[in-house]
Amino acid sequence: MSSEFQLHPDLASTFALPVDALYFLLIFLSVIISGGIFIAIVVFCVKYRRRSEDESPKEIHGSLPLELAWSIIPMFMAIGVFALGADLYFRMYRSPADPIEIYAVGKQWMWKIQHPEGKREINELHVPINQAVRLTLASEDVIHSFFIPAFRVKRDVLPGRYTTMWFEATQIGEFHLFCAEYCGTQHSTMIGKVFVMEEEDYQNWLVGGVSGESMIEAGARQFKQLGCATCHKSDTSGRGPSLEGIFGRAEKMTSGEDIVADEDYLRESILNPQAKVLNGFKPIMPTFQGQISEETLLQLITYIKSLGEAAEE
Ligand code: CUA
Repeated sequence: MSSEFQLHPDLASTFALPVDALYFLLIFLSVIISGGIFIAIVVFCVKYRRRSEDESPKEIHGSLPLELAWSIIPMFMAIGVFALGADLYFRMYRSPADPIEIYAVGKQWMWKIQHPEGKREINELHVPINQAVRLTLASEDVIHSFFIPAFRVKRDVLPGRYTTMWFEATQIGEFHLFCAEYCGTQHSTMIGKVFVMEEEDYQNWLVGGVSGESMIEAGARQFKQLGCATCHKSDTSGRGPSLEGIFGRAEKMTSGEDIVADEDYLRESILNPQAKVLNGFKPIMPTFQGQISEETLLQLITYIKSLGEAAEE
């Protein structure tokens, strides 16, 4: 499927058709409008050409209906295109509830993928068919861009923050995965494959091979090893705040600001703890900048999120 050259990539996700429909609508409108302008230029050149040396043209007066028509019709066309584009944009940026979460880290020059269950892969991404998959993307170094043409999804991956994207694959098979942002000399080799599998095959694949620890287990291990647990105790006796149920909660900071503890906040608090300190605590936490990889960070955050889920039950 992905081996042969294709002028038009596969339509392999729920976004593929709407994105293409909008794209071809824009092409169609552009061709109609520029074709119309081109034809009008030619026709008017012939029709209103100067026929003799002493010919002087008749005076022309404007036409209000004509001017209104060529203002109002394109206005509605532009609003229509905007509405269709905005609707699709919102659908692409809002992931549905309870997607399959997968984490990807871009680094020169590869994609490292982690599944919460513990499976890891490089330059390959396995996903089940007909299920919403949400990717959380981070970069270890420079800007990369995660691009799956057959799914019509592409998202820039920036160092220092998380970006997310979601899709739902609709076709079994192998599809191209590209880095779509020039990221250094080996940018062109930063390519991979996306494998869309039946749910059952995907589950078998997830548990197959070396059974490593899950991301939560890995995060819990790091949490102890890095010494987080000495200050962040599960009760309030620690020098740092308890992290039970902190994920997704709005907290008051020493600055007086209310901040929701999301992935980006947790990430910042691990790398740059002094940036936003929880009200009632001292800025005494050491930084872990440069000491832990983006992959470890994602494991820690997954672990901290799991503390929240446990507290809700
Ligand atoms: Cu990574 Cu181009």
